[in-house]
Amino acid sequence: MNTIALIGAQWGDEGKGKVIDILASTADYVVRATGGSNAGHTVVSGGKTYKLHLIPSGILYPSAVNIIGNGVVVDPKVVLEEMSELEAQGVSMKNLSIDLRAHVVMPYHKELDELAEAAKGDNAIGTTKRGIGPCYADKSDRIGIRMIDLIQPEVFARKLKENLKFKNDIITKVYGGKPLDYAAILDEYNGYAKKLQPFTCDTGVMLYDAIKSGKRVIFEGAQGTLLDLDSGTYPFVTSSHPITGGFCAGAGVGPTAIKECLGIAKSYTTRVGAGPFPTELNDGVGKHLLEVGKEFGTTTGRARRCGWLDAVILRLAVRLNGLTSLAVNKLDTLTGLKKLKIATKYMRDGKEVTHFPADISLLEGCTPVYEEFDGWTEDISGCKKFEDLPKAAQDYIKAIERLAECRVSMIGVGPDREQRIDR
Ligand code: GDP
Ligand code: IMO
Ligand code: MG
Repeated sequence: MNTIALIGAQWGDEGKGKVIDILASTADYVVRATGGSNAGHTVVSGGKTYKLHLIPSGILYPSAVNIIGNGVVVDPKVVLEEMSELEAQGVSMKNLSIDLRAHVVMPYHKELDELAEAAKGDNAIGTTKRGIGPCYADKSDRIGIRMIDLIQPEVFARKLKENLKFKNDIITKVYGGKPLDYAAILDEYNGYAKKLQPFTCDTGVMLYDAIKSGKRVIFEGAQGTLLDLDSGTYPFVTSSHPITGGFCAGAGVGPTAIKECLGIAKSYTTRVGAGPFPTELNDGVGKHLLEVGKEFGTTTGRARRCGWLDAVILRLAVRLNGLTSLAVNKLDTLTGLKKLKIATKYMRDGKEVTHFPADISLLEGCTPVYEEFDGWTEDISGCKKFEDLPKAAQDYIKAIERLAECRVSMIGVGPDREQRIDR
């Protein structure tokens, strides 16, 4: 078997797009299985920057088949815009497939995402407002509209009518919003259906055959472990399972289909949106990470919250995802900081906490315990080998391996695919 799952080890934006693009050069298939257009994956290749939301990051390689699996929630407008933008840059869509079972993000999902966030006030999650939560809620409620429904005009018209009546009641009567127009949505989505129909198929069957015949398959994670609906910082999470277990349900494969699990982390921690963040820094170091790391969201443009690396989180990621190794990106962003810190555990009410707590109210009472390291000032963005790194940078990576209890197999020293060290 020749398969690998790539998963975010923190709160998303760990540089998954970059690592997937690197591995995709030898891939036959690249598969997205969870999330939707809340994801923003950056690929820098040949001097060009590509920002991908729904289309897998293997699309730049004509040899790779790119699959949007059944577990993804597909916004047809976003995926079509992304396809046009990529085509305008000379990227072919010939090898793109979308699963028939994938659920469709509808205008009322986006409207309800906005309205629910506004109604929550100070308790707002800080979602991307892409309709992700409401779409997954409909899926669980068994009233969702799937790609297979979208491409059958009569089925779609019926399901839209049934759903819209109920959704408009919620929009107007619960939130005092304006109702959405049935005819306008029907017309808009029938247009999308015509364009997307040729890309739809049963991708689970495709993958099964591919894996059986020894093809190289990469599962592309979206979001990150701490945004997982079950194991993340609930309720400040997304509505899917962005952990390796999520690939099985979301791509339609069994657990034995995944051979290796590579966790992607940054050399520090970031998070977009609300929710607890034990190692967050609101000082000069936080400012350094934000500015030097250019920590602004790929999807929403929001400034990311920044803080020290947290080994309690990394150990959770290793355990939940069965990680076989870690890629650590953005080591270059730490250059110039005199001292570096990694949280090894937390203290709460005078007691040690070594595992990530189940309840965020417990997490909020946790104070990180740090191990301190020397920084470095040398420019590392051109380093190709581990031995090229300053000793302090090597020691920092070795400390990550010790504290996360996982081997570091790749180090990112810049945004370009070439700016990396393979170990
Ligand atoms: P993703 O959602 O995990 O794919 O990550 P994003 O694309 O949202 O955010 C990661 C950002 O970091 C992007 O702007 C990348 O180009 C950039 N990046 C990735 N790896 C590195 C690295 O090693 N060094 C630097 N300086 N930037 C990196
Ligand atoms: P990638 O794939 C970072 C966060 C949002 C919010 C929470 C819920 O680029 O790493 P949602 O819109 O999903 O209901 O928002 O999850 N979030 C992300 N944060 N990277 C992402 O994706 C994210 N996708 C969702 O900011 O806090
Ligand atoms: Mg991102």
